[in-house]
Amino acid sequence: MDSKTFKAMVVQQTPDGAYTRRIAEKSLDDLPTGEVVVRVHYSSLNYKDGLSATGHRGVTKHYPHTPGVDAAGVVEESLSGAFQPGDEVIVTSYDLGMNTPGGFGQYIRVPAAWVVPLPENLSLKESMAYGTAGLTAGFCILRLQEHGVTPELGEILVTGATGGVGSFAVAMLAKISYQVVAVTGKMDEKQFLIDLGAKEAISRKEATDTSGKPLLKGRWAGVVDSVGGEILATAIRSTKLHGAVTCCGNVASPDLHINVYPFILRGISLVGIDSQSCPMTFRRQTWEKIASEWKLHNLNQQTSVCSLEELDSEIDRILAGKQKGRVIVDLGR
Ligand SMILES: NC(=O)c1ccc[n+]([C@@H]2O[C@H](COP(=O)([O-])OP(=O)(O)OC[C@H]3O[C@@H](n4cnc5c(N)ncnc54)[C@H](OP(=O)(O)O)[C@@H]3O)[C@@H](O)[C@H]2O)c1
Repeated sequence: MDSKTFKAMVVQQTPDGAYTRRIAEKSLDDLPTGEVVVRVHYSSLNYKDGLSATGHRGVTKHYPHTPGVDAAGVVEESLSGAFQPGDEVIVTSYDLGMNTPGGFGQYIRVPAAWVVPLPENLSLKESMAYGTAGLTAGFCILRLQEHGVTPELGEILVTGATGGVGSFAVAMLAKISYQVVAVTGKMDEKQFLIDLGAKEAISRKEATDTSGKPLLKGRWAGVVDSVGGEILATAIRSTKLHGAVTCCGNVASPDLHINVYPFILRGISLVGIDSQSCPMTFRRQTWEKIASEWKLHNLNQQTSVCSLEELDSEIDRILAGKQKGRVIVDLGR
């Protein structure tokens, strides 16, 4: 069994310090120890995978490496009583695709504690349309709800709206009756955002205030931010009394230039989101919501599918900020 070979993307550093990507033949013997072997049917592309695929040591310390923080497939071997061969499962984040060979390979071997049974009402392919991006959007929504942000309280701002996290936040919030204002750098994709359910799309420029005022007119009941920097700083200063701002990404900048006034004069909550080490109970709860109350019925609108061989150009696109929606990776069967 352990001599079985399979295809995987391998990122490698060359002697001149550059990073190359190729599709290579690997063996199950190359995978780390772990209780569960999964035959991966689908993966998906996240911004973090782009970083791992280009030698970003903050994500992946050791190369050669197979990226892919997301995987959905069928259990092939299990040393854990919790999973049996044939079970359909999802594995996202923890160390998958970071320093553990990830979903851009046809097999993974992982600890049982990382494995989530596929919820009823969700196919393996659908689960990877959401992937870490959709799950993270879901975490943001649950946290907003926990902070008392209900649809009646007013508009929710979603930044990076055509991206993975952003597009799923727009669509799922709209599905559960929130009014969503989408921030995008791609105003030519305004109709895409309206079709996802946004009531309005605004440009990054409109979402950025450089006046230096510590507080701006309160407009947002809640915010889902995946970009950071000045757009996040503006969003916090424009959030209404007792609103909540979820912060999950930094594609624009990791910096945040604000002072304490939004917190002490408006009681705003800034809520950090970390999908990587989020507790399993919260993870399962969010997948269940995704598969039921929040389930989107037109996923084709915001997803495309590529093969392992076609993934290379998609990695360049996501790093250039040009991604629209989500890319599912079909590993073949
Ligand atoms: N904390 C967590 O657990 C967690 C989980 C998942 C992702 N993340 C992070 O969330 C971020 C988004 O991930 P993703 O997978 O959704 O990436 P993505 O698909 O590339 O989406 C990012 C979107 O941000 C916008 N954007 C790009 N460059 C920008 C810039 N310079 N200024 C302002 N907006 C910009 C673009 O949308 P528009 O053109 O529409 O503006 C882009 O499509 C990343 O930083 C990622 O690492 C964090």
